[in-house]
Amino acid sequence: MIRFLLPLLLAFSPAVLADASPRPAKPAEAGIASANAYATDAGMEVLAKGGNAFDAAVAVSATLGLVEPESSGLGGGGFMLLRVAGEGRDVFIDARERAPFAATRDMYLDAEGNADRGKSVNGALAAAIPGLPAGLDHLARKYGRLPLSQSLAPAIRLAREGWKFGPKNAAMLGYRRDVLARSPAAAELFLRDGEVPAEGTLMRNEDYARTLERLAAHGADGFYRGDFASRLVRGVREAGGIWTERDLAGYAVVEREPLSIRHRGFDIVTAPPPSSGGVALATMLKVLEGYDYPHLGKVERSHLFIEAMRRAYRDRALYLGDPDFVQAPVDMLVSDAYAAGLRASIHPAKATPSDLLPGINADPLRPDTSHFSIVDDEGNLVAVTQTVNLPYGNALVVPGTGFLLNNEMDDFSVKAGVPNAFGLVGDDANAIAPGKRPLSSMTPSFLVGPDRTAVLGTPGGSRIITMVLLGLVELMQGEGAQAVAAAPRFHHQYLPDVVQAEASAFEPAEIEALEAMGHDVEAGDRTWGNMQVVLWHHRTGDVEAGTDPRWKGVGKGSSTEASVYR
Ligand code: GLY
Repeated sequence: MIRFLLPLLLAFSPAVLADASPRPAKPAEAGIASANAYATDAGMEVLAKGGNAFDAAVAVSATLGLVEPESSGLGGGGFMLLRVAGEGRDVFIDARERAPFAATRDMYLDAEGNADRGKSVNGALAAAIPGLPAGLDHLARKYGRLPLSQSLAPAIRLAREGWKFGPKNAAMLGYRRDVLARSPAAAELFLRDGEVPAEGTLMRNEDYARTLERLAAHGADGFYRGDFASRLVRGVREAGGIWTERDLAGYAVVEREPLSIRHRGFDIVTAPPPSSGGVALATMLKVLEGYDYPHLGKVERSHLFIEAMRRAYRDRALYLGDPDFVQAPVDMLVSDAYAAGLRASIHPAKATPSDLLPGINADPLRPDTSHFSIVDDEGNLVAVTQTVNLPYGNALVVPGTGFLLNNEMDDFSVKAGVPNAFGLVGDDANAIAPGKRPLSSMTPSFLVGPDRTAVLGTPGGSRIITMVLLGLVELMQGEGAQAVAAAPRFHHQYLPDVVQAEASAFEPAEIEALEAMGHDVEAGDRTWGNMQVVLWHHRTGDVEAGTDPRWKGVGKGSSTEASVYR
């Protein structure tokens, strides 16, 4: 608590804001923070070979897909936020999965019209068309310096030599073992005698190595067209899915304009729709801008944050969806006038029951996704959040491919008002339609201030956005990368109408005070997120990498070598 409160008192102090020393053109060294040592090392290896941050991102992403199959991979999708230093521009690569063309709005409703969650979460029907392979090809071709054969080499080598099954792999597999056992190819890759492998078991994946080699040799066509695409489609259809070769051949990444937010002297660059993250972040920061929150007491400040979160998540449920299909009122949601209206509805000392704001509810399952952050010594920045949705995706491997498919279809509003696996509700804007991208919470972000630049993001389903909000505030207050990744978390998402809090987020007296205001605080042993932060100090050129101690990722930079997990 003290470490959370103290920086507040220093926050945005004149000393911090007055340090407008000119930004050096380049960091002194590169930094990478990812959820896994193998992935961070793969990125460092590619940088050492002369690659830039974008080549390193290809290496990190492909390695995470191998060694963290519960979180992300070639069968899933992701968002890539780039700052291209040489061109002075930011780019958002949308490699989100798309609904197959045969998808229909009510495809997960049973005869009584009830949502059948088993179908939207488990097996072939839950899988949207993967976007990550196309994203890697696009990233390498348009922004990288090395051919895919070089940036994918560490992952290919590791797939053949083997990697050690770790505690996170095992913990997440515990949740999904029974479903995964239904897919013989998945069971062969990830189970041993039908059970979760012991920690330290050497895992090899020859099929994954071959799939990456095909991607290296033929680019995205090696995945989305030809024999490999036919094999994927056949495997999905034999397992009860609805993919066609047209779905794969028709997949393309989209470059979108990132969302920019100005807040207390900092520029925040973040994810636009089909992520809900940037819009919700902008709404929350705009609401908070009206308060001198860095100088408020912990309880009063937390109350305002909770009320801002509640309102932003209400709007997420009502308005947001794939921008290629629905026109969300983004300009309104991030406007000063709208924020002033929301502020007027916030009582300074009383919680607003979510029932008083129009909306919806849930029972969140444990989400899984992965984020990594990179700064290279040219000043290029990369923030990638990638996912297969729930742990081990839809738990299905098509024989001969080496990767799990996603269950991203569950990120659609399967039925208006019925919560998804994260307890998030939605309406028409996020209804299923052929070729549409499901709304996401993934929020890869940059923070650029007078004296520092940070790259950050995290997995965590619906809680991603509030984690990034708290992380940004801590960074603006001057916290270091490791402290930000470790900071205690609290969250409100409109429905259910509870403040979820990690055990160290509030003292008992603070919980009492918040409850006296009408907040229902659920604090417990549960933790969430796996935040990865790289922080570049302009004055010295130092680069710090901070990694979330909750799951022990690995950050490497000039000033920090964080905990190592192998
Ligand atoms: N699958 C989690 C998200 O995209 O928000």
